[in-house]
Amino acid sequence: MGLISRARCDRTPAWPRLQALYASAGKNLDLRDAFAADAQRFEAFSQQAPHVFADLSKNRIDQATEQLLLELARECGLEQHRDAMFAGAHINSTEDRAVKHFLLRSPAAPGMSGDLAQVHATLDAMLGYAEEVRADAAITDIVNIGIGGSDLGPQMAVLALAEYAIGGKRFHFVSNVDGEELAEVLARLRPQNTLFLIASKTFTTAETMTNAQSAKSWFEAGGGKDVSRHFAALTSNVSGAKDFGITTTLGFWDWVGGRYSLWSAIGLPIAIAIGAQGFRDFLAGAHAMDEHFREAPLAQNLPVRLGLLDVWYRNFHCFASRSIAPYSSALRRLPAYLQQLEMESNGKRVDAQGQPLPFDTSPVLWGEPGTNGQHAYFQMLHQGTAVVPVEFIAVRKPMSGLKGHHDKLLANVLAQAQALMVGKTDEGGHKNFPGNRPSTFLLLDELSPASLGALLALQEHRVFVSGAIWGINSFDQWGVELGKVLAKDIEPRLKSGDVGGLDASTAGLLQRLR
Ligand code: F6P
Repeated sequence: MGLISRARCDRTPAWPRLQALYASAGKNLDLRDAFAADAQRFEAFSQQAPHVFADLSKNRIDQATEQLLLELARECGLEQHRDAMFAGAHINSTEDRAVKHFLLRSPAAPGMSGDLAQVHATLDAMLGYAEEVRADAAITDIVNIGIGGSDLGPQMAVLALAEYAIGGKRFHFVSNVDGEELAEVLARLRPQNTLFLIASKTFTTAETMTNAQSAKSWFEAGGGKDVSRHFAALTSNVSGAKDFGITTTLGFWDWVGGRYSLWSAIGLPIAIAIGAQGFRDFLAGAHAMDEHFREAPLAQNLPVRLGLLDVWYRNFHCFASRSIAPYSSALRRLPAYLQQLEMESNGKRVDAQGQPLPFDTSPVLWGEPGTNGQHAYFQMLHQGTAVVPVEFIAVRKPMSGLKGHHDKLLANVLAQAQALMVGKTDEGGHKNFPGNRPSTFLLLDELSPASLGALLALQEHRVFVSGAIWGINSFDQWGVELGKVLAKDIEPRLKSGDVGGLDASTAGLLQRLR
């Protein structure tokens, strides 16, 4: 399918109009005045999407800004670009690939064929395997060896859904090539009770291959025999896994990007933890958000509204970062997961045609769960010189049965969002809070497989939206290549001491590290 030509945001009529709106009104919009002037502001800037309620009212936007941002979206061909993704066009143009992770959560259809049939055949096999592992009492420890998208998603989700997880099984995630990490995990395990999942889309990633090799050596040295029972590969490179000596393989496809892969076989640790039905609920929650993104009018389309707000903040207010604050200990790895999703997707300096961009793209994403962050960096959020939009995520139903904790947690998340906005100006100097600091509030009724699925699909699509407006390819990651190549050149030099051709700093450090 051919690619639809997209208008880059800075070449649309809406762009200079947004610049003018920012200069005349946007720059000085004060949230306190906006709430005072409009009793309906909360209703106007909040909405329910599948499993996620979002309050955008504490953001520096008004009706005129949202309208003009929606015009920008239309002029950039956002809807056509979205539809092209859902139609299977090769929108990952630099790798000439389709982008179809949404298909992994599409329900089975009668008489289905092609990719959807393959997706469901693989899903059924994967969930069957997950149930076998769950029923295998001898397997007490599951070690996922993978990095980036083959680690962050499954790790985050297994932690997030711990309440739903089967008892009697421990999950470990090893990603770093620093042997410390693997050694520390292996020291607590026995080969006969361990299942290693070697998770790598390419099955060539240096860290994962090194850790997998060491895990296999440890297994064999410890008397482990049945590799097919104790090792499984989750990969799109089935022959690579076979060459490594793994016969139990669950595959996926090149149209699933690494950071979008937890819905595929890469999600096996999640399926083992929460079971086949739980995993199907997780997919169904994400699918509900896909349908919302595909069908809701732009003005009530939550991923669209969030993505446009991201553009407004990055390119007009020039806010350089966004802080993620999940007020849920179970979501403690969500900031790291979102970091890869946003920054590997949209951390680009050229457009889809390879032309340098005259405007900024991905913000820096960072954060920690609340209330912990309050006692660390929230000082800067309230009184620092830079304005950092915060994305609060709260869950209405408590996860733990411990009395009194959840109301305290919810009181804190409400108070922080309130304090950022209202500030406190009756005392001067050090005790002054300027206020007018923006935040978005995402609210889940409960943290369940379905609501987590919807929350993650929401985040995927909002990243799609800002990437589409910026006219970039959000689905490649060439920026990770150079360091990999240079590390290959440097590794033997650590042994030989050869510093020929290196810059003086790298040479000097290498000599000290030998
Ligand atoms: O180096 C970056 C990257 O390619 C990510 O995009 C990916 O999620 C990660 O490495 C792991 O890749 P793989 O699953 O192929 O081992």
